[in-house]
Amino acid sequence: MKNGELSRVAEALQLLTEGMYPDISDHQKDVADLCEEYGRYVGMDGIERETFVLAGHLHDAGKLLVPAYIIHKPARLTNVEMAAMHGHCDLAMYFLAPLGVDPRIADVIRQHHEDYDGGGYPSGLRGEEISPWARIVRALDSLAALIADRPYHQGISQRSALHLMRSQSERYDPEVLRTVFAMFNEPWGMS
Ligand SMILES: [Fe+2]
Repeated sequence: MKNGELSRVAEALQLLTEGMYPDISDHQKDVADLCEEYGRYVGMDGIERETFVLAGHLHDAGKLLVPAYIIHKPARLTNVEMAAMHGHCDLAMYFLAPLGVDPRIADVIRQHHEDYDGGGYPSGLRGEEISPWARIVRALDSLAALIADRPYHQGISQRSALHLMRSQSERYDPEVLRTVFAMFNEPWGMS
């Protein structure tokens, strides 16, 4: 499927998500905006950047298939509910794989919660077993979540978010984390 067609699918999903889960919809837009900024910063060309931004837009699309009561649950999730939530990485591919999405987008959707040290999910991939774009979205996803104001979460400053991420740097590709710092002109050495 070409980017133009996939963009229309992404727009339709975005509308659906906006209606069902406005916070998730806002988060997907925030991650896509950060993907655009990161892509420009590292010099991705037009089509590559467009594809990368689409991956940002779609990364959490599988949450549409997680039961609504789990998404909306205000309390701590049980282990079973948490497993269902973690399933969102694989669920999106049930409806996106038949469309023949770019494999780099599929990797972002499946692997954006894999940690660089192997401690993430769903497969416990580590280091370069994780696709390069998924390693970038792993960091941008965290950054977007930390700085966003939501009804249940007071966003922190971008600077605090970056340094919090650095304190948990085992989760992130070190080169990606340094690039995100550089992109926002944040000195690596300050905390
Ligand atoms: Fe996610």
